[in-house]
Amino acid sequence: MPRINSRFPSVGRLLIIQMLLATTGLAASTEQPAAAPKATPNPTEASRDWHSYSNTSEVRSTHLTLDLTVDFAKRVLRGTATHTFRRLAPTTQIVLDTRELVIEGTQVRGEGAWRDTQFHLDQPDAILGSALHITLPSDATQVRISYRTVPTASGLQWLRPEQTAGKKHPFLFSQSEAIHARSWIPLMDSPQVRIRYDATIHTPKKLLAVMSAENPQTLNAGGVYHFHMPQAVPSYLLALAVGDLRFGAISKRMGVYAEPGVLQAALAEFSDTERMIQAGEALYGPYRWGRYDLLILPPSFPFGGMENPRLSFITPTVLAGDKSLVSLIAHELAHSWSGNLVTNATWRDFWLNEGFTTYFERRIMERVYGKDQADMEAVLGYQSLQKELRELPPADTILKVDLKGRDPDDGFTDIPYEKGRLLLLWLEQQFSRPRFDAFLRNYFATHAFSSITTESFIADLSRELAKKPSSKVNMAQVKQWIYAPGLPSFAPEPHSRILSSLKTLIPAFAANTTDASALRAEHWSTHQWLYFLNNLPVGINRKQLAKLDAVYALSQRKNSEIAHSWFLLALAHDYKPALAGLPDYMLRIGRIKLIRPLYQSLMKHGRARQAHEIYAAARGGYHPMTRRAIEAVIDNKS
Ligand code: BES
Ligand code: ZN
Repeated sequence: MPRINSRFPSVGRLLIIQMLLATTGLAASTEQPAAAPKATPNPTEASRDWHSYSNTSEVRSTHLTLDLTVDFAKRVLRGTATHTFRRLAPTTQIVLDTRELVIEGTQVRGEGAWRDTQFHLDQPDAILGSALHITLPSDATQVRISYRTVPTASGLQWLRPEQTAGKKHPFLFSQSEAIHARSWIPLMDSPQVRIRYDATIHTPKKLLAVMSAENPQTLNAGGVYHFHMPQAVPSYLLALAVGDLRFGAISKRMGVYAEPGVLQAALAEFSDTERMIQAGEALYGPYRWGRYDLLILPPSFPFGGMENPRLSFITPTVLAGDKSLVSLIAHELAHSWSGNLVTNATWRDFWLNEGFTTYFERRIMERVYGKDQADMEAVLGYQSLQKELRELPPADTILKVDLKGRDPDDGFTDIPYEKGRLLLLWLEQQFSRPRFDAFLRNYFATHAFSSITTESFIADLSRELAKKPSSKVNMAQVKQWIYAPGLPSFAPEPHSRILSSLKTLIPAFAANTTDASALRAEHWSTHQWLYFLNNLPVGINRKQLAKLDAVYALSQRKNSEIAHSWFLLALAHDYKPALAGLPDYMLRIGRIKLIRPLYQSLMKHGRARQAHEIYAAARGGYHPMTRRAIEAVIDNKS
C-alpha cells in the first residue's frame, strides 16, 4: 500500500550509512542507565528529537488539564491548557511547541494564586511551528496558557453536516500523529514526554465528545464532558472527536462509537474485536488500558486508523459488510502494546511503532482467522513493499531513516511497516517462535510506559544473545536490516498457499487461454481479488476487463479496496464503464492511501485536467494532511 512517499534528494547517503554503522557498534539505552555501556554512541544523540522545540532536558510536563469550548461556527477550539511540570535543571523558562495557535495569555502558579507571566512566540518554522517561551519564576510548578486554534489547524478537521453519515450535525476530529498535537494544544510535542491528562470539553447540545481517555457512553444534556486519562501518554496520542455519536457494546470492556446510521453495521463488522484483544493478551501480556473502544469517523478521515489509547479512530471505508478488512482493527489494537506502551523515542524510530505493530497485527490475525488469512495479508504487504522499494530513493528505505530537517509525515511509507515487520519475522525464524515471543513479552513488560530508541532495541537483542547465544542470529545482520537501504539478501519472503494457486491463472487469463468465467472466481475473497487485480500484467486489454466486469460485476463492488484496485486498472487501460463512479469515490473518501494513487494514475494517464477538476471540488472536504498529500501529486512536485 503506497503511503505518502517522500521525494527528497539523498545527499551523502553512503557516508551517512557508514557513520551509522560505525557508531552503533555498542548501542546505548537511555532508559536503563544501569545496563548502558560506557562507550559510544552518545545516547543523547541517538534519542535527540529534532521535531520538538521543547526544553525537555530542563523541565518536563507531567500532567495536562484542558478546558476547551468547541465552536463549530468559527471552527475554533478556545480555552486553557494547564501543565504541571517537574524541573530537571535550573531554568527560567518552559518552551512549548505550537503551530498557528493564538496565545491570549500565560499564567503561573506555585503554592499561591495564578499570576500573569511573560511569554513570546518565535517566528514559525514551516515544519515545526513556533516555539512558545514562557517565563518561569523559581517557585512555579504549573503554567496555564489561554489560547485558541485557527480554522486551518493541521491536526483538526471540521466537517459540515453534509460530510457526515447523518447529514444533520457537524463533526470535529483531531489527528495528532506525528507532530500535529501542537496545532490544537500548546505542549511538549515529543514522543519522549508522557503526560496524564484531564479535560473538560464544552460542545453544542446533542453532540457527544470522546477522547483518548475514559469516555462517556451517553449524551450530556448541557454539552459538558469531563475526561480523565490515568495512564501517561505521549502527545501524539492526545485525541478528541465531537459529533452525533452513539455507543454500542460488543463485550464488557469493548464497544463502538459511531453515528446512529452507521452503528449497527460497525457492531457487526467488528464483532470479533474482543477475540482479537484476547489473542493479543495471550501473545504479549495483559491489555493495560482498561477499555478498548472504536470510533468510526466520517469518510474524510485521512488514515485507515489511528491508535488513540482506549479509543482507536477508524475509517468507515473498512465497513465492507463481510469482515474482510478487519486486519486494520488488529493493527490499531496491536499498538496498545507496540507504540502506546513502548513508544518510539523519536520519529526516526517510527519503525519501532509500526514494524512491531504490523508483525503483531499478523500474529493476531493468524490466531483469530487462521494462517491462510495472515499469509495472504503478508503477501499483499510484501508486494506493496516491493513497489515502494522500487520507487523510493535508497536513503528512505533505511529503517532508522534520516528525518532531520524534514516533515516526519514523510516517513510514513511501507518501509517502517513492512520492512520492519520482515525484520521481526526474520528474528522469529532465527530464534524460534517460542523464544522470540518470550523476548517480546519481556520487551513490552520492561519498557512499558516508556519511549525507546532503535539503539535501545539493538541493546536488548544483544543482551538476549549474550544470555543464550544463538548460532543463527548475528548482530551485524541485524544492523544491516536497520541501517542499510533495501532488503538484505537473507530477508524472508512471505508465501500464501491460497494466493499461489492464482499464479498460473493470472498469465492464463492474460493470454486468453482461460476466460473470465473459467476463473471460477464467484467465491473469491477480497484478498484473492486484490492479488488478482494487482498482478494482472500491463499487456491486458480493455476487452478482457469488460469480460471480467460482465461476469463478476467489478464496477459495482462496494468494497473500498477492490474498488480502488479496479479503478487503477480501468485508468491504466482506459476502460470507461468502470470510471463512472470514480469522481464520487474521490470526493467522498479522504483516506490518503485510497485516493492518492488514483490522483497519481490520473496524472500519469493523460487525465490531469480531470484530476484538477476532482480536486477542486473535493478540496474543501479534505483533511489538511490529505490536501498536502494530493497537492504534492497534482502540482507535479512528486
Ligand atoms: N499510527 C498510524 C497512522 C499514522 C502514522 C498517522 C503516521 C500519522 C502519521 C496507524 O496505526 C496506521 O498505521 N494506520 C494504517 C493502518 C494500516 C497499516 C493497517 C493506515 O492508516 O493505513
Ligand atoms: Zn500503525
